Amino acid sequence: MARREFSTAKKRRRHSADAAPALDAALPPAPPRPNPDDLEIVVWPAPVLTHRARPVEQIDDWLKQVGRRMIELMEQHKGVGLAGPQVGLSLRLFVMAETGKAADARIIINPVLDQQDGFEEAEEGCLSLPEIRGKITRYVKLRIQGLDISGQPIVLELEGFPARIVQHETDHLDGVLIIDRMTPLARLAQRKALKALENQAAT
Ligand code: CO
Repeated sequence: MARREFSTAKKRRRHSADAAPALDAALPPAPPRPNPDDLEIVVWPAPVLTHRARPVEQIDDWLKQVGRRMIELMEQHKGVGLAGPQVGLSLRLFVMAETGKAADARIIINPVLDQQDGFEEAEEGCLSLPEIRGKITRYVKLRIQGLDISGQPIVLELEGFPARIVQHETDHLDGVLIIDRMTPLARLAQRKALKALENQAAT
């Protein structure tokens, strides 16, 4: 489910002048900002799908264009949600629309889930795992907090299908896929489809 254990321990900068160049060199590189129009859906086993994504720090015109492109891709591929890593961006945002229609879509940035309640099993698919479907247990109800694309706070209390979408998409931001949430037996049943995806990636 939504794993919220954030590591808050930040590396302290040392004050020694000679240490500075080495420390700067060790800083993670700024994430790339590709042209939003070039974004396409990334398919498993792409590594970006299995890594924890980083928080969005800047809501600007580029991010708005990214959101617009993600909504477009979600609708084109008949999805109901699409997360940053699924377009190759290791950033904590996703788009969702219960109806699959762009007109109903919303963008949620840096989501945090809580107040989860109840369990329900239902079949899910994923645009990054074509041909694969499986029964996944999710919370029935939850609250999600985050930011919209204007940087305004969002608080939603959801139940049923939209709550399921939110859990699936937030999982993507933690590098968790539906194959990680299936029972071992269900995953075994998908092994041919997974092998085919691996072979496709290797060619
Ligand atoms: Co998915």
